[in-house]
Amino acid sequence: MKGIILAGGSGTRLYPLTMVTSKQLLPVYNKPMIYYPLSTLMLAKIRDILIISTPEDTPRIKQLLGDGSAFGVNLSYAVQEKPEGIAQAFLIGKEFIGDDPCAMILGDNIFYGNGLGHKLHDAKVMAEKGQACVFGYYVEDPKRFGVMEFSRHEKGTENGSVTVLSVEEKPKEPKSNYAIVGLYFYPAGVSEKAAQVKPSKRGELEITTLNDMYLQEGRLGAQLLGRGFTWMDAGTFDSLRKATNFVCMIEQYQGMTISAPEEIAYWSGWIDAAKLQESAKRYGKSPYGEHLKAVLEGKIIL
Ligand code: G1P
Repeated sequence: MKGIILAGGSGTRLYPLTMVTSKQLLPVYNKPMIYYPLSTLMLAKIRDILIISTPEDTPRIKQLLGDGSAFGVNLSYAVQEKPEGIAQAFLIGKEFIGDDPCAMILGDNIFYGNGLGHKLHDAKVMAEKGQACVFGYYVEDPKRFGVMEFSRHEKGTENGSVTVLSVEEKPKEPKSNYAIVGLYFYPAGVSEKAAQVKPSKRGELEITTLNDMYLQEGRLGAQLLGRGFTWMDAGTFDSLRKATNFVCMIEQYQGMTISAPEEIAYWSGWIDAAKLQESAKRYGKSPYGEHLKAVLEGKIIL
């Protein structure tokens, strides 16, 4: 399975912060925003990852993350010339995806929760079997998001899986309070399907249109991220502040760093101790570097 991080967009909602830098390189507490979606794809055990960003920001992101060898993954990069919609990522990434299933995460989406790896695994299995999978998360302001209407399965609801009835992008009258979060799993052939998406009224290739196509074919599954999971998109001042506060609070209470890609790589057996040590040194005297050292010294066990 392949993975895409879509880190495009002009970030105008965060001006002047994003006038000369990428939104996805802004800090969420103590690390760049893009570390969080990268960690999420890595928790899904995805190791071939394409990062799509703007012409200006792609070189900067590449400078930070390189070829991915520090994280035990293969990173490649592609440019989205203009922000023409999330579904466009599958057209830009057509060659990279090839005949594989593919997950995509938005570069400003942050996921946290015990058991997230299992949820991601389930979605991956669905995509490998030919079903798309999206995730629903309770929000108070569903009008800001893609929204799913759903009914619960009679059996098997304990894993949060539901039957989707409809999907709508930023509806005026939402049919539920469940946002479709910015993490999507698609079966092989997603680029061909994305090529059939027509631009919306705002001129974008909407991810919700793509999801609706799978729904109409009876191939859209969904899971709820219930209590115990936290999801945030950090694309506005308010949500960026909330994301920073959240990560700060979790790290202070737990006394350790979260969403450290090198640590995930180490526990997954994708990098060895020598490589982790190299990374720890690269981060100097920062708490992030200290955390990697603590992992290395065996002070932190998962
Ligand atoms: C996009 C999607 C929307 C989704 C949201 C999640 O919205 O269009 O369906 O719920 O991401 O972050 P945007 O942030 O582009 O307004």
